[in-house]
Amino acid sequence: MDSFLINGPTTLSGEVDISGSKNAALPIMTACLAKPAVYRLKNVPSLRDTTTMIRLLKIIGAKVSHNNSILTIDTNNCDNPNAPYELVKTMRASFYVLGPLLSRFEYAKVSLPGGCAWGPRPIDYHLKAFEQLGAKITLRSGYIVTKGQLKANVVKFPKPSVGATGNVIMACVNLVEHVTILNAAKEPEIIDLCEFLKKTGVKFKGIGTDSLTIMGSNKEISNIIDYSIIPDRIEAGTFLIACAATGGRIILNNVNPNHLGNVLENLKKTNVMINIKNNQLEIISKNPKKSVSLSTKVYPGFPTDLQAQWTTYMSIINGDCFVEDTIYIDRFTHIPELNRLGAKIIMDENKARISGVKKLFGAHVMSTDIRASASLIIASMCADGESSLSRIYHIDRGYENIELKLTKIGASIKRISS
Ligand code: UD1
Repeated sequence: MDSFLINGPTTLSGEVDISGSKNAALPIMTACLAKPAVYRLKNVPSLRDTTTMIRLLKIIGAKVSHNNSILTIDTNNCDNPNAPYELVKTMRASFYVLGPLLSRFEYAKVSLPGGCAWGPRPIDYHLKAFEQLGAKITLRSGYIVTKGQLKANVVKFPKPSVGATGNVIMACVNLVEHVTILNAAKEPEIIDLCEFLKKTGVKFKGIGTDSLTIMGSNKEISNIIDYSIIPDRIEAGTFLIACAATGGRIILNNVNPNHLGNVLENLKKTNVMINIKNNQLEIISKNPKKSVSLSTKVYPGFPTDLQAQWTTYMSIINGDCFVEDTIYIDRFTHIPELNRLGAKIIMDENKARISGVKKLFGAHVMSTDIRASASLIIASMCADGESSLSRIYHIDRGYENIELKLTKIGASIKRISS
């Protein structure tokens, strides 16, 4: 298993090109299954998770080729609407194939995704919605089997879910009737999925609002569908917080600053300077910093996917504050690891209560999930001395070339392969 050796403290300086969004690319890749056609997706990040998704698409029968960040997916000959446990267990987003397969084949057999590093992540909203749309669902030997022709209905989620919203949207692309989702997720990745599907003839009302209506289309697609994935706002947010925490000045290229509104506001409150120019963001980290308490919320609130990174940042600012996760109340596996590096954080239910320390010190720490790993890299870059970060396959799932990008802006980070 690979690990990172990181020497700190570091001051970051230079430019970083932000990759395409993982969480937009994964559902859009699965959406290609819904209608037989050739799709050319641009700005697809090269990650463990996109590679896993390519393997899954191939099992279903798609032809997939990858040329730099361009992915060509030919779904004309797909004939196997099954997603095996071996792949779904390694990446929860594999469950996204259920909607498009059901839409195209009126049948799908997808392994249950199972647990997650930060506690249970249910799929009840997905399943209840499919039932409301007329699908028959059975659970057999760890697999969800869905069958049936869908029909129009209004689906209301108890609270917004990115995955369930995306899955229901994709289930409806061939249904020439109106389906409305109430309490729909409004995340940029959902908007990107809708924009992609518009190119295949699907119509929407209320994109980016919590009441989203989908009107599918049964027309065949004869031309190649070209689409460019949005930039990764979580990768961008991670680099911004890394720079704020370590000090320095960096410029991010290929970002959409509108997707980062809440993050930028909170960063500014800590006393860093942010300059926005079209699709570029500059951050200048100055002292003294102010600690800022926050709670994660659905978009446009502060993302849960940046909670761990923010907690690291707050751990080295003088003063007391809290970071609360209201989306995933158990998503705190990074806290004991941050404390190993010298942070002073105690858990109070779903709130990390942080007493800022002057310094962190290098130590052996372990990655537990994608974003927790990012938070530990940031902490290790701030810490005095050498840190080693094990189980970095987690970070490879979601950050493209992270060590190359960080090295280019002055970090001392080396991959040790074993
Ligand atoms: C997606 C993102 C993930 C991010 C999360 C929240 C992808 C591939 N992953 O995950 O990085 O952290 O959004 O922004 O895009 N819930 C239920 N039942 C369900 C579905 C969800 O109770 O059937 C709950 C979850 O436990 C959670 C909340 O709804 O508390 C939001 O989860 P959801 O938006 O569905 O997250 P994911 O789509 O899995």
